[in-house]
Formats: sequence, C-alpha cells, structure tokens
Amino acid sequence: MVRNQHRLLLLLKVKCSMVLNDNKGAIGVFDSGYGGLTILSQFAKLLPEYDYIYLGDNARAPYGNRSFDVVYEFTLQAVRRLFEMGCPLVILGCNTASAKALRTIQQCDLPKLDASRRVLGIIRPTVEVLGDITRNGHVGIFATEGTVQSQSYSIELKRMYPGMKVTAETCSMWVPLIENREYESEGADYFVRKNIEHILSKDPQIDTFVLGCTHYPLLLEKIKKYTPQGITIVSQGEIVANSLRTYLLQHPEMENRCIKNGSRIFYTTESAEKFSDSAKIFLKDEVEAHRLMLS
Ligand code: DGL
Repeated sequence: MVRNQHRLLLLLKVKCSMVLNDNKGAIGVFDSGYGGLTILSQFAKLLPEYDYIYLGDNARAPYGNRSFDVVYEFTLQAVRRLFEMGCPLVILGCNTASAKALRTIQQCDLPKLDASRRVLGIIRPTVEVLGDITRNGHVGIFATEGTVQSQSYSIELKRMYPGMKVTAETCSMWVPLIENREYESEGADYFVRKNIEHILSKDPQIDTFVLGCTHYPLLLEKIKKYTPQGITIVSQGEIVANSLRTYLLQHPEMENRCIKNGSRIFYTTESAEKFSDSAKIFLKDEVEAHRLMLS
C-alpha cells in the first residue's frame, strides 16, 4: 500500500517534471550500493548546479562476484528506472556495471529505449588520465572479481597505451567490509595488506595503484598505510567529475537537457533509513533516501 502510494507519487512527480521541462531531467548516478556516492560527491563539488538522482541497488549488492548476465540485467533495470524518472543522462558510478553492462546497454538497449539519451561509464575516463600519472608504465588495478575478469582495464589501457604493464588484483573482501561498515576494523587491515602485498609480488615495479571500484576510497587510509612510498594512489571521483564536465561542455544538446536546481534525490532498493545512515559517511552530509524496487 505504502509502496504503491510512493510509486504513484513518483510517477506524478516524473510526469509533472516532463510536462514542465519537456525532455529535461536530473543526471542519474547508479551503483550497486554506496560506492557511487564517492563519485556523486565529486560531481556535487565540481558541478553543484545540476540536479542528481542517485540509485543504489543495496538490496542486491555486491555485484562484484555476480555473472555477466546478472550484472547486465540488474544494471539495465536501474537505467530504465532512471530514464522513467526523466534522466537524460545516466552515469554508471560502478566499475563492475561499467565493465559488464555498459557496452551492451549502449549498443543494444539504448537505440530501443531512447536513442537521444546517454549512459556513460567510469572506466574509460579513468584509463585516459593514467598515461600522465604513471612514470614507468607499470600500473596496478584493485577491483572486484567481475571487473578483473572482464579485463576491461587491461584492454582499454593497452589499447590507449601499448607497452603499458597492467596487473590486476581481485579484492573480494573490500566491498563487503565497506558495505558492512567494517572498513576501519583490524579485519580491513588484514585484507588490504594482503592484497597490496600480493599485487606487488606479481609486479614489484608498479608505480601507480588504481582504486578500480568506487567503494574503495573508504579504505584509503588503510591502503595508504600499506602502500610503499613512491607509489601513486589514484581514486576515480575527481577524474570522473572532470570528465563529466568536459562531456557536458562538448555536448551542449545534452547539457541543455540537464536541470540545474542543485537538487539531490536518493533511492535505494534496501531500507531507506539504513541508506541515509550510511550515506552520511560517504557524503559527509545528511541524506533523505527513498526505497524503490527494481524489476
Ligand atoms: N562499487 C562497485 C564498483 O565500482 C561495485 C561493488 C560491488 O557491488 O561489488 O565496482
């Protein structure tokens, strides 16, 4: 009953905004859970004038060890929902979804759903800047099992910078530690140290670590603690925000469709209270979330 009322209200809100704003809407940001908030917080810092709708599929997180088909299906459901809410542009603030679902959505689904809208990922913009960051061409990627298996980072990096040596490390426990708020615990020390030692045993010359999962900035203090001096740690928020700014400058037809009232709306597939509580940690700000179901 309450859910139906909420859906009805949402529908009315979306319909009204469509009547009032034609084909305009907020920028959608999607992640499996809380991780995309590290991207949204940088959007809000660099491009505060835009409206944003955040959708976290917390009920089904983590995505990291799910199959290609499942990540694609869940991501498509989220993109559809954000389109229904009027978003002309959706950013997949999730490496796993960018690695496993983005291409199929862009090539197969978007033309059928609405060819005038756009869905963008976060792997390409991250890869683009790495050539200027690494000094010796040895790059280490920390990511979920899904992102590592997809080889998206290696493929993109080698295409853009032939000769670069890319070593990926699956950090299966990092997202569960964060989603369960254990990222400051001794358990977190154990797993962070283990993965750092392991990646360096595979390539001791690595001079750049990429946090290839949007959750990982929450573990930054631990990661710094076990990273040898001289290795640069790259996290994605600022990079992706700069890339969005460039995209909007280069695409005025899309920029004109993005509403600029500075509003932020948060949706989660899990409990709204739980989301609001945890989102504070990521955004350092109070957040009022709403629950929705994806199907
Ligand atoms: N935050 C996501 C990423 O960037 C995925 C975390 C997960 O659901 O496993 O990969």
